[in-house]
Amino acid sequence: MELQAVKGTKDILPDQQFNWERLLLDVGTVFRRAGVGKISIPIFEHSEIFFRSAGESSDLVVQKEMYTFEDRGSRSLTLRPEFTGGVLRAFHEHGMASLPSPVKLWSHGPVFRGEQVQRGRQRQFHQVNYEVLGIEDPLVDAEAISLAYDCLRACGLTGLTVSLGSVGDPEDREKYNAYLRKSLTPFREQLSKASRNRLDLNPLRIWDSKIEEDQQIIKQFEPPLEGLSDKSKRHHLDVTKYLTDWCIPFTIDPTIVRGLDYYRKTAFEIRHHGIGAQNTILGGGRYDGLLANLGGADTAGIGWAFGVERVLDALKGKDSHTPPVEKPDLYLVPLDDLAVSEVANTARSLRESFTVLHAYRVRKPAKGLREASRIHSPLVGLRGEAERGQGTYTVKDLESGEQVNIVESELKEYLISCAAGKNEES
Ligand code: HAM
Repeated sequence: MELQAVKGTKDILPDQQFNWERLLLDVGTVFRRAGVGKISIPIFEHSEIFFRSAGESSDLVVQKEMYTFEDRGSRSLTLRPEFTGGVLRAFHEHGMASLPSPVKLWSHGPVFRGEQVQRGRQRQFHQVNYEVLGIEDPLVDAEAISLAYDCLRACGLTGLTVSLGSVGDPEDREKYNAYLRKSLTPFREQLSKASRNRLDLNPLRIWDSKIEEDQQIIKQFEPPLEGLSDKSKRHHLDVTKYLTDWCIPFTIDPTIVRGLDYYRKTAFEIRHHGIGAQNTILGGGRYDGLLANLGGADTAGIGWAFGVERVLDALKGKDSHTPPVEKPDLYLVPLDDLAVSEVANTARSLRESFTVLHAYRVRKPAKGLREASRIHSPLVGLRGEAERGQGTYTVKDLESGEQVNIVESELKEYLISCAAGKNEES
C-alpha cells in the first residue's frame, strides 16, 4: 500500500490553517451583516437529490463525476458534489418556507467531484456557498452578486472580473436550444465529441467548450443573452441597474451558460487572472423551480459558490494572508531530566493567559535558543539544576540579549509586563 493521499485530495497543513480560518472569519462577517444564517448539511445525501438537481446534461452526470455508492441497506448515496441540492432539501425538510422571505443561508465545507485533476481542479475541494430562497426579484439577484463580490474583497482579493449573463427561463431555453440545434447540425462532424453530445442533450452548453474549433463554429451564432424573451431581458436589465447604482464593477457576458442544468435567467461568474486555466473563482445564478423539481414546493432561488482553494491560490504572496502560525510568547527549555516535566507543568499553568511552548527533551542552552528563534518566540525560559535550587527560570530576551532570573510564580506577571511594554512601543 502506498502511504499517499488519494489523487486530487490534499492535506491542509498546520501552517496553512491560519489562512483558512481567517478566510472563513472574513466571509462570516460579510454574511452576518447581511442577515445570512449559516447552515451545515451532511456530506452525503440520497443520490437522487444530486442527480435530479444537477440535471441529465450537466458535466456531473454526463461525465460521471459523482462519487456514488451503496450503503449496507442498499441505499444509493452520493458524496455532495455541490451544496445547492442539499441546502434545498434541508430548506424543505425544516419547513423554512414559513420563515420571513427571503431565507438566506450560507455554508462551508468539502465537496467531491471525480474530475480530471490539474491546477485548481481537485477531486475533494472546499466551497463557500450562498443560497437565497423565496423571492424572484432582480433586487435579490443584485444583492447575491454584490455579496459574492464583497466576500471575495473581504478575503483580500483584488483584480476581480464579474461577468454577468442570462440563460433565460425554460421557454427561452427551449426556443434557443431549438435554434442552436438547427444552426449547428450542419457543422456536427466538425464539432468535438463532447460538443456533439451536448448538441443532442443541451446545445446551449457548447458555449462552454474550451476547444478552439468548437468556439470558431458557435461564435457565428447568436449567444443566449440575445435570444431572450422581453420578460427575461427586463429582469436582466434591472439586475444591471442595481449593480451599476451600487458601483459593483461588472461586464456583460452574453455567452455565459454554466455547467449545471438548473439555472434560469441570471447567471454569473467571477474570475481572477493569475491562477492558471481554472480561473473561475466563483459561479452562480438563479434556479427558480429547482425545489419543485426535487419534490418540494415551487420556490424561487438564487445562489453561488466559490472554491476556497482557488481563492487562497489567488491570494498567495499577498501580505494580508501570509501565515503566522501562532507565535509563542515564551519557549521553555529543560536543561536536565527533572526539568522536562517541570517545564511542561509551567507551560500548562501559563497557557491560561499566554501561548507557551516547550522542548520535550533535555537541551543544551544553545540548542534551546536556536529552537526558540526558529519558532519566533521572543523569550526563552531555561530551567536546570541552578534554577531549581532557587525556584526560578532564567529568562532570555532574544532580541535584546538581556537575561533575568524570574521566580516561577512571578512568570505570569513578567509576561504581562513584557506584553505591556511591547504595546507601548507600538
Ligand atoms: P460551480 O461553478 O460548479 O457551481 O462551482 C463553484 C466554484 O467551485 C467554482 O467557481 C470553483 O471555484 C470551485 N470548483 C468547482 N470545481 C472545482 C474543482 N474540481 N476543484 C477546485 N475547485 C472547484 C456550483 O457548485 C453551484 N452549486 C453554485 C451555486 C450555488 N449556484 C447556485 N447556488
